[in-house]
Amino acid sequence: MEETTQKVLYSAVQPSGNLTIGNYLGAIRNWVKLQHEFTCFYAIADLHAITVKQEPALLRRRTLELAALYVACGVDPAACTLYVQSNVAAHAELTWVLNTLTYVGEMERMTQFKDKAARHAENVNMGLMDYPVLMAADILLYQTQVVPVGIDQRQHLEIARDIAIRFNNRYGETFRVPEAYILKEGAKITSLQDPVRKMSKSDENPNASVFLSDDRDTIMRKFRRAVTDSDDRIVAAEEKPGVTNLLNIYAAFKGCTVPEAEKAFQGFGYGDFKFAVGETVADALAPIQAEQQRLLADKGYLAGILKEGAARAAYAARKTLSKVYRKVGFYRGE
Ligand code: TYM
Repeated sequence: MEETTQKVLYSAVQPSGNLTIGNYLGAIRNWVKLQHEFTCFYAIADLHAITVKQEPALLRRRTLELAALYVACGVDPAACTLYVQSNVAAHAELTWVLNTLTYVGEMERMTQFKDKAARHAENVNMGLMDYPVLMAADILLYQTQVVPVGIDQRQHLEIARDIAIRFNNRYGETFRVPEAYILKEGAKITSLQDPVRKMSKSDENPNASVFLSDDRDTIMRKFRRAVTDSDDRIVAAEEKPGVTNLLNIYAAFKGCTVPEAEKAFQGFGYGDFKFAVGETVADALAPIQAEQQRLLADKGYLAGILKEGAARAAYAARKTLSKVYRKVGFYRGE
């Protein structure tokens, strides 16, 4: 197995809708923190995105917007490999091989598959079911050790580990077995309207999710309407999911702990508390939004980053794929 001095980290986001503060706090923010400690690959998962219907022109636009957002959030293209998943053919190629080590039954049991199949009953396509295998291919191609994600991706990470182990057992040591990296703060940001459910890009209720593209007024309005409870105590507790979520969001954006956040709001009523959380989020997002717009005005710069990223990723991925093809017995012309 290839030995590198620095550990490899891999993560991705789908360009399938407006990103929420959940995507930011659960994933991208941590990528920025870790980017100098690891050899990082950050992808825009467009192959994953088409497992639900996408408008082609919009998908293309969102892909570029997401690239700009990564950089605006602080992902350093000089320190990381930033690329579009479909630009590296090895992802689809390895998926095919890994499919043959994955059982239909285990895919049918995936929580996210069941959720999405229920929400898109008219379009339960093979890609939707195969989604975790493609994700395993993403991760395993780069001999990844660490995958920073939110809690909702834990089950997919487990499957990626199982598939890697299965392959290694059948064909000999080939893949590193990756670990999920889930930071407690921000790992599960929940809906502002139904705070036991995760905040999602695709929630039908526009007040449920705060998008990274929301302007200050919208953010303030959404927090003003956030569901809390009737007892007026600003503490994190299982029976207070709304207040707990707001404390989590505040702590994550402020870079403090939840107990510190509880202390900061001692004596506050819910109205003032929600106002303060809204202001904190709006203040944090404003510079990111401005930087994203600035970057989007320079399409040549973004195209350059993505082209270079794809070349670097393709080189690294090809090494693993060649090994896999050899191990499974594909004729390689020698
Ligand atoms: P996606 O696009 O659904 O979400 C991107 C990242 O955001 C995290 N996340 C959240 N974290 C906290 N609270 C929330 N409410 C919340 N909502 C989303 C997700 O956990 C994720 O880390 N399949 C992946 C993309 C992917 C990928 C990969 C990730 C493709 N290949 C390889 C890691 C490694 C997905 O759909 O993420």
